[in-house]
Amino acid sequence: MSQRQNVTFTVAPGGRLKGRIRVPGDKSISHRFVMLSAIAEGASEASGFLQGEDTIATAKAFRAMGVAVEGPDDGRVRIEGVGLRGLSGPSAPLDMGNSGTAMRLLAGILAGQEFDSQLTGDASLSRRPMTRVTEPLRKMGARIDTAASGTPPVKIHAAGGPLRAIEYTLPVASAQVKSCLLLAGLYAQGKTCVIEPVATRDHTERMLAAFGNPVEVSDHRICAHGGGRLRGANMEIPGDISSAAFFILGASIARGSDVLLEGVGVNPTRTGVIEILSLMGADIELRNPREAGGEPVADIRVRSSRLKGIKVPESLVPLAIDEFPAVFVAAACAEGETRVTGASELRVKESDRIDAMGTGLELLGIEAEPTDDGMRIKGGRMRGGRVDSRGDHRIAMAFSMAALAAEETVVIEDCANVNTSFPGFAPLAASAGLDVKADGAQG
Ligand code: S3P
Repeated sequence: MSQRQNVTFTVAPGGRLKGRIRVPGDKSISHRFVMLSAIAEGASEASGFLQGEDTIATAKAFRAMGVAVEGPDDGRVRIEGVGLRGLSGPSAPLDMGNSGTAMRLLAGILAGQEFDSQLTGDASLSRRPMTRVTEPLRKMGARIDTAASGTPPVKIHAAGGPLRAIEYTLPVASAQVKSCLLLAGLYAQGKTCVIEPVATRDHTERMLAAFGNPVEVSDHRICAHGGGRLRGANMEIPGDISSAAFFILGASIARGSDVLLEGVGVNPTRTGVIEILSLMGADIELRNPREAGGEPVADIRVRSSRLKGIKVPESLVPLAIDEFPAVFVAAACAEGETRVTGASELRVKESDRIDAMGTGLELLGIEAEPTDDGMRIKGGRMRGGRVDSRGDHRIAMAFSMAALAAEETVVIEDCANVNTSFPGFAPLAASAGLDVKADGAQG
């Protein structure tokens, strides 16, 4: 997994997107499905599971702890749960690849185990902050260490008894930290409560309910009870709105486009990108709303439109946190100026997304001024050029779609990690009308 191939995307300028598109399963939900199924009692089955490198790493980690995981095969996965106390100590460090979600959520589960474990990751993950989870876990009595810089590897020692329930106010809006603590709360005595000043994605809460162990939610306070049990459950995992976002962007900026994205998760804690692009004037319509696996789902129709620059409301930032690479490209194609503030978390994602996008947009001839917590972008004519994705899947896909509005070819380097969240992106985008060629092995 850490062995990276050098994949380059070459995208010819212009074109439009057309047709019906089905994006792969939701990454956040797929990770959580493996984790909760593994510590549940009985079997769980899912369809629509994301067969990306990140979620496969999570499945592999649980196999290394004695859990039988069949698949994923054509999006189907079957997991034989071992119960909250049934995991066995892994004989080697667990490699979480590129995934912050996997490492932070798993730390919550491992903190409650009666065995030692260690979590490692690739070069990008090894630079990401872990003290945001280790500090509150220590307050719960966990014995857990990071490297001196607060980064991986994360070493977790046998708990030596139940964790202590705490009440914790999140200092950063982070669903990963919230979820880590709720999962650790399953191993604590009493009620572990997380107070989130602003709402973040609530997939853990929804899935705990589906597995028969609902959290208590009142106002901004979410509490998990220790000493319970989870029951295996079956689930249909919706398409990932974070992957759909690139097609929403592409169809919005490429004249003559009209796409229908089928079966996409539209949980309101994830739809910030739809709200932001709609404020910019995008033509996005949700059709056929329904529910699957306790999550709202819809088909999303997008037609091209003229976008205008806006000041992005800060309240929407956590609800679109993974979609800013796409939002920044939309801003580059819009008339006037777009300002993003309150988004300093973008600096500690798979790459520093403010810097990576600012540098790439400038290279393509767009006036972009990065700030500590966001960016100011003046929409304008986009040249072609060669940009560096910095090994960040979402930077790679955002710049691929930018070519639709560019005057010359856009070459994007270091795209192998697109496979972490969106295997098959290049061929799917090509089938919808993007003139993209992948050199290397992006499947
Ligand atoms: C995720 C939460 C977000 C997001 C990440 C997935 C999750 O991170 O950026 O891609 O599945 O909980 P934070 O909660 O740290 O903002």
